[in-house]
Amino acid sequence: MLKTTAAITAVGGYVPEFRLTNAILETLVDTNDEWIQSRTGIAERRILKGEGLATSDMAVPAVLEICKKRGIDPLEIDCVICGTVTPDMVFPSTANIVCDKIGATNAWGFDLSAACSGFLFSLTTGAALIESGRYKKVIVIGADKMSAIVDYTDRSTCIIFGDGAGAVLLEPATDGSGVLDSILKSDGSGKDFLHMKAGGSLKPASAETVAAKEHYIFQDGQPVFKAAVKGMADTSYELLQRNNLTGDDIAWLVPHQANKRIIDATANRMGLATEKVMLNIQKFGNTTAGTIPLCLWEWEKQLHKGDLIVLAAFGGGFTWGATLIQWGYNTE
Ligand SMILES: CC(C)(COP(=O)(O)OP(=O)(O)OC[C@H]1O[C@@H](n2cnc3c(N)ncnc32)[C@H](O)[C@@H]1OP(=O)(O)O)[C@@H](O)C(=O)NCCC(=O)NCCS
Repeated sequence: MLKTTAAITAVGGYVPEFRLTNAILETLVDTNDEWIQSRTGIAERRILKGEGLATSDMAVPAVLEICKKRGIDPLEIDCVICGTVTPDMVFPSTANIVCDKIGATNAWGFDLSAACSGFLFSLTTGAALIESGRYKKVIVIGADKMSAIVDYTDRSTCIIFGDGAGAVLLEPATDGSGVLDSILKSDGSGKDFLHMKAGGSLKPASAETVAAKEHYIFQDGQPVFKAAVKGMADTSYELLQRNNLTGDDIAWLVPHQANKRIIDATANRMGLATEKVMLNIQKFGNTTAGTIPLCLWEWEKQLHKGDLIVLAAFGGGFTWGATLIQWGYNTE
């Protein structure tokens, strides 16, 4: 019997209209376009503006686009997994809220917290549900409204992050396409360098925590940078080795978009030409769990059945890893 794999059968995405350019950031903090572009590769990010709008409001259009493209009713969806660190609320899960908003009343779902590796961890989890044979249609979302937790007076973080959402549909396949292998890692000692200090059970929200700006991202950039370069490059290289592949066999690298210098280091280690690296950091910045599915969304028309693709991420936790997929369809 042929092995059942979890194939990506459709991709959806959403980025908000508002463009937060480097020129605007120059008016908010002591920074400049030249520094931001040369140190990170980012020119602008999208920001979700408007009262009452949250992460689910970006995830919903991404999932509805998938339903339209694949010609399915939300009632057919079995499960929704949402990778996010900016859920609409601490509970219920954003996945549940998305299901309610799109009428996916037959689905169960949950959020997965792995910061910038949120999509990668969710994809492997969703793939396991498909491979188990119990579920036929699993939606995997990566979505973050980072502007909700960015301090726009902190120049070391506000230049990096943006808002956005991407999603894929996983379905069973027996033609060899789908999620083939993953190396996923986490190391909780990394929490010292990238975290949010308050709002959890350790330090519940209070007037003091708000006054001390403890509901924003804290990042010590240099150690994160070093760990990201090593983590993303090492796991991507190891993934190639254990599947007897070289950079020549890979059609695309889909890296988490945190910093162009981290992406370049990963591509170099894999022996990949720059034309094979998906890069949209200049337009969207770091949308945390959104980066990888947003790349797949933007590049969908250039992906061909049979393409071997490596997805790679590094994020808060620390969490990191790389996943090998074989693309399962051509877009007309
Ligand atoms: C944040 C990051 C871009 C900073 O770049 P860096 O090259 O490490 O910069 P440093 O923090 O060493 O700062 C270098 C100098 O630039 C200054 N600087 C920092 N931010 C600046 C900004 N926005 N504009 C202008 N100057 C800035 C610093 O004050 C420092 O000045 P000094 O040398 O006079 O002290 C980089 O560390 C990074 O990308 N880290 C990983 C981020 C990441 O991946 N996070 C998400 C997890 S996936």
